Amino acid sequence: MEFISIKQAMEKGTGQVNVRGWCYRVRNSNKMAFIVLRDSTDIIQCVVEKSKLSEDIWNQALKATMECSLEITGEIKKDERAPTGFEISVSSLKIIGESDVFPITKDQSPEFLLDKRHLWLRSRKMTAILKVRSSVFQAIRKFFNDKGFYEEHSPMFSPTSCEGGSTLFEVKYFDDIMYLTQSWQLYAEAMISALEKIYTISPCFRAEKSKTSRHLSEFWMAETEIAWYKLDDILKNAEDLVAFIVKYVVEHNEEELKFLGQDIEKLKKIKTPFPRITYTKALEILKKDGLKVEWGKDLRTIEEDAIAKHYDKPLIITNYPKKIMAFYKLKDPKNPETALCFDMLAPEGYGEIIGGSERDTDIGEMKKALIAQGEKPEKYEWYFDTRRYGSVPHSGYGLGVERVIAWLCKSDNIKDTIPFPRTMLRMTP
Ligand code: 4AD
Ligand code: MG
Repeated sequence: MEFISIKQAMEKGTGQVNVRGWCYRVRNSNKMAFIVLRDSTDIIQCVVEKSKLSEDIWNQALKATMECSLEITGEIKKDERAPTGFEISVSSLKIIGESDVFPITKDQSPEFLLDKRHLWLRSRKMTAILKVRSSVFQAIRKFFNDKGFYEEHSPMFSPTSCEGGSTLFEVKYFDDIMYLTQSWQLYAEAMISALEKIYTISPCFRAEKSKTSRHLSEFWMAETEIAWYKLDDILKNAEDLVAFIVKYVVEHNEEELKFLGQDIEKLKKIKTPFPRITYTKALEILKKDGLKVEWGKDLRTIEEDAIAKHYDKPLIITNYPKKIMAFYKLKDPKNPETALCFDMLAPEGYGEIIGGSERDTDIGEMKKALIAQGEKPEKYEWYFDTRRYGSVPHSGYGLGVERVIAWLCKSDNIKDTIPFPRTMLRMTP
């Protein structure tokens, strides 16, 4: 027996079909049973009529409970009243895996759904988000592969920090202590002297003590590092990537986006160039909005949201104050209090989706910055070698994959954008 997906069955539209999946909903009377079958592609109503079937098959149908798995054979036909416009009149049915009383019913709290995440993944909402997630990964790979980039990896165990010591996870490593990686970047800077244009998509770990809707302690970052690139070149690359991801998802996931309540026409307008302002200009705009930020302080979530509200495309903010930036960000020679760096903020309050910069090539400057941040420069000697032997100007950035998915899927919490989220308060399942 050859099985086809529910989607393929609906495309076929008439005749006999064999489908299999899980019982999404079931309702019986003493003469009829209505089983809504679900597979990875869609749902379809299946009608079982006692009078038309053997006792055996009818008894199987009566055993169907929510989320049991089953195989069904029957005639498919159009039916406007059915939930997805088609119905299967069942001629044969077999339960493959029975289901205990399914613990998830309507209107349950977000925390309960997170406790049962291994089962909640089957919901249509989570299925739609996970399909978008898969497309975002495909889009990132396609974007870089089509431009001749090499995909490379750095170790997850790291002897130092990249983004500052306060969010490091310590791991016992034999008789030593190591840290889970915060970013691929430092190793990428060594690899570009061999490969010039590289990217990765990798898990990153940060002991974020903030319980916000935007922070995970384990998240995926897409990063790129490019030899010879200056800030302007990397900004162009970053906005092209984001526009490409949006276009790819619109093309591949229209159904899912609609299901999630996303306005596709609005996404279609996300085209380059994106607006660019400096940090100093951002403070001026915030001041007019009644939000006063002292020059030199990083932008907090509320300020990022307030500033992003002025734009309907992702916003690029450049030239943050040098002293609050990571040690590797290059000083702007024209404006030495600031760094040649940028953040990209998603529209509609989805926060910072990208952070990047041109990289410092001056070992002395980097040592000073590391010391100011309480780090031990000796631990970075291998990294300084990249500047000692044929250093070149170079730039890169990292894109928070879950933040982008949250924006595209209109998820009010980043936890919904990854199958099994890890946060300060969420370690299971
Ligand atoms: O701005 P960040 O910290 O930049 C870096 O780590 C650089 N080393 C990247 C590079 O230049 N190669 O992080 C990059 C992005 C952020 O803009 C944000 O979107 C995401 O990663 N991000 C997080 N996403 C979810 N949960 C967290 N805790 C995140 N921390 C950062
Ligand atoms: Mg950042």
